[in-house]
Amino acid sequence: MKAMIYKTLIILAACWAVSGQAIAAGAEGELEPSGINVSDMASLQRGAKMFVNYCLSCHNAEYMRYKRLSEDLELSEEQVMDNMVFADVKIGNLMTVAMDPADSARWFGKTPPNLTLVARARGADWLYGFLRSFYQDESGGWNNLLLPNAAMPHVLWQLQGIQTAVPGEHEGEVGHLELATPGLLAPDEYDATVRDLVAYLDYMSEPAKLKRKNIGVWVILFLAAFTLLAYLLKAEYWRDVH
Ligand code: HEC
Repeated sequence: MKAMIYKTLIILAACWAVSGQAIAAGAEGELEPSGINVSDMASLQRGAKMFVNYCLSCHNAEYMRYKRLSEDLELSEEQVMDNMVFADVKIGNLMTVAMDPADSARWFGKTPPNLTLVARARGADWLYGFLRSFYQDESGGWNNLLLPNAAMPHVLWQLQGIQTAVPGEHEGEVGHLELATPGLLAPDEYDATVRDLVAYLDYMSEPAKLKRKNIGVWVILFLAAFTLLAYLLKAEYWRDVH
């Protein structure tokens, strides 16, 4: 019996080690970790503000309601209405854009995708990289290392400044990006701002995550208490047998 338990434990430990490595060395190996913390309320609030100010003009988040934002992010309805809602909308409205998709397709060549679920599709690290990888290419237009020839302009360029590409070893390859014109924020401040924004995008892709994490703690506590009870019960049953 004991040997079997040991064997099971060893197998479990091996699985855990292997899966950890697989994740660490995954296909996205070159992405820098975003370091977001969706339990950090202040960060989510700053991110939400960035989102409505800089992204919502083009992108939809039409599966998300302002009301939910106020409940989850511990903001009063007044705070949401005063700081985040510019158009003539009510607190119960979905976060949609005023721009007609046909117009945006004409202006940008592509309709800006709905961002409600983008963090689940792309992952937080990709988004963090994407928003820090815009640069001005030889044509003078915006380009992006993670989404080459992106139809999206660098909407945060005033904050970050303008990056240009330093050629890599191979013909036509980008080695790395260089900050040619500084922006309003220092590079580490810009990174922190993007981190807030990505944390918000991650939260928005799964608002239940905030609650689920809290519930998780209670479930573990319950299981621990239950295990103890079960053990005491077993001891009680077996007392007479021994
Ligand atoms: C001026 C309009 C505009 C604004 C403002 C804008 N975007 Fe975009 N965005 C686009 C367009 C157009 C695309 C499609 C790019 C493509 O596929 O080439 C896009 C694509 C994206 C994508 C890639 C989606 C995918 O999976 O391919 C992400 C992520 C994104 N935007 C995030 C943001 C964030 C975050 C903000 C706010 C900081 C923002 N965008 C602001 C126009 C905009």
